[in-house]
Amino acid sequence: MTDAGGSARHFGEEGGLLSYGDYLKLDVLLRQQEPQSKAGADGRAAHDELLFITIHQVYELWFKLLLHELTTVRDLLLAAESQDPRGDEATSAMWTARHLLRRVEQVEQVLIAQLPVLETMTPQDFLDFRSLLSPASGFQSVQFRELEFLSGLKDAAFLNRLRAATEDERGRLHRRLDEPSLWDGFCAALRGRGLATESDEAITASLVAIARDRAAYGDLWDVAEGLLSHDELCAQWRALHATVVERQIGYKTGTGGSTGATYLRSRRDLRFFPLLWELRTAL
Ligand code: HEM
Repeated sequence: MTDAGGSARHFGEEGGLLSYGDYLKLDVLLRQQEPQSKAGADGRAAHDELLFITIHQVYELWFKLLLHELTTVRDLLLAAESQDPRGDEATSAMWTARHLLRRVEQVEQVLIAQLPVLETMTPQDFLDFRSLLSPASGFQSVQFRELEFLSGLKDAAFLNRLRAATEDERGRLHRRLDEPSLWDGFCAALRGRGLATESDEAITASLVAIARDRAAYGDLWDVAEGLLSHDELCAQWRALHATVVERQIGYKTGTGGSTGATYLRSRRDLRFFPLLWELRTAL
């Protein structure tokens, strides 16, 4: 094909250096869905196991992106403590933090919207392969636990319960435990604006001041609301997942060895940023 300028160009193959499949490593990616049920006597995979694997892999990809975005938000907020609050650097950092938190919110909406797709699997079809998965469980998702640690729910006891974790995964979890959380970043940004953070009472007083002065603190309010949305959407996911589990396996024990729905119900009320929730009462 020759374009108006006379050069030879082929639609979809411009330059010929990089293809869609190469860029996305589809050759590797699309070979990673290997049903356990295929190893059964007749060599045929249970129909719904592909759905089960796909949805969990997609979750892990989104978890990777969320860790990327939320780590950046945390770092931007931490840096704000030492920046001139009226300078370009701080203004740009606060804009980017709000921008990325909006992205996080949209991704988390997708995570919630995905669960009903899995619910198109019947409990009896799940039983065709469920026993083959034990002791693997979403409980062992290292990225999920990293997200919790980064968001401030730092429970080191999980490290002892993840016996299958690799050295690399353990290292990542230890780092997330040691690193500042999103809340530490938010408190640093408050200090950068001259707001007190030395105690929960002081932080609440600072939050009330932020809520009541949009002209001075509108950007901090937006960040706080972005963090709260992250908290709320994770709580919604936890609650929905517990219900999906109850619908799929009732009150059977989990493949990961927990009490299943009972364990998941016990975690439904967890919150990353309790002071942001309590602010509503204080206002
Ligand atoms: C048929 C659907 C599902 C069932 C029956 C199920 C079952 C369970 C059960 C029973 C647990 C408790 C731990 C255990 O003993 O195994 C658990 C934990 C967990 N599952 Fe699922 N799950 C399902 C879908 C999903 C999906 C799609 C994800 C997405 C990544 C997921 C992620 C998790 C995570 C992160 C935990 C740990 C939660 C925590 O410790 O708070 N699960 N699941």
